[in-house]
Amino acid sequence: GKVAVLFGGNSAEREVSLKSGNAVLNALLRQGVDAHAIDPKHDDISQIKKLGFDRAFIVLHGRGGEDGTIQGFLETLGIPFTGSDVSSSAIGMDKAKTKQIWQSCLLPTADYQIIVKENFEPSSANDILNSLSGTVMVKPVHEGSSIGMAKAENAGQLISALEEAFNFDSKVLLESWITGDEFTVSMLNGEALPAISMKTTNVFYDYQAKYQSTDTQYLCPCGLSDDELAELNRLSVEAFKAIGCSGWGRVDFMRDSNKNWYLLEVNTVPGMTETSLVPKAAKQVGISFDQLVLDILKQTI
Ligand code: DAL
Ligand code: MG
Repeated sequence: GKVAVLFGGNSAEREVSLKSGNAVLNALLRQGVDAHAIDPKHDDISQIKKLGFDRAFIVLHGRGGEDGTIQGFLETLGIPFTGSDVSSSAIGMDKAKTKQIWQSCLLPTADYQIIVKENFEPSSANDILNSLSGTVMVKPVHEGSSIGMAKAENAGQLISALEEAFNFDSKVLLESWITGDEFTVSMLNGEALPAISMKTTNVFYDYQAKYQSTDTQYLCPCGLSDDELAELNRLSVEAFKAIGCSGWGRVDFMRDSNKNWYLLEVNTVPGMTETSLVPKAAKQVGISFDQLVLDILKQTI
């Protein structure tokens, strides 16, 4: 039947989604799948059933696509779709709720506070920092691709980082800063693919390091011992399941200098550009980009 490849959309990650979606669409077309692009920004998705689509491949990143809204819409229409269900997509888009669930499952994640725009008092900035080990990562709660994120080491930096983050979200997560290395584990059919370690010379693995830099290094194999890898994979699978995710996705981590793991977040529609992390991990076990796309499509729920 006809497959709707949903990409583009209206979120701050639109540009990334256009790249991911075009790569997925082309992979499907190369393999003879009757696939068509649907961009909710320009196309009337209420017509999706009338147009004869019987499955959807979701490659929308961010709000309005990765957050359960499209998933609920498709479910109501009875159109199977790739990736996670409504509730896990919604929770996965919310970095605060994700952390609360992981904490309740005794999974490791950094200390944090949630700051709501209308309640923030700049005079409290120092106290907030002191309660979070003095340095924090500032993150809009419902955002992706490091958009609106910054490191803050003093009250002035925290206030300006919050002002910037509030442009993207009225809820902002402050996490104790973790000095160490960033790792990611891609999930395919509920199982972990080889972990990747990302090395950047930027302050952190930000938008520039992700999509524009030629200096970012991706290590896969990532240099962990077998025992360390087993632990990382166990945490990934448990973290993925705790949120209720299924099909494919990606779980992001930091590891500090004492080799402690900290779960950062789960991505229910990870980047799928030809240079993105999930395709890199798949390639490491001999799964080509084209095969990966077919495998994801097979897992429609
Ligand atoms: N949010 C981006 C697309 C990612 O996780 O890869
Ligand atoms: Mg993300």
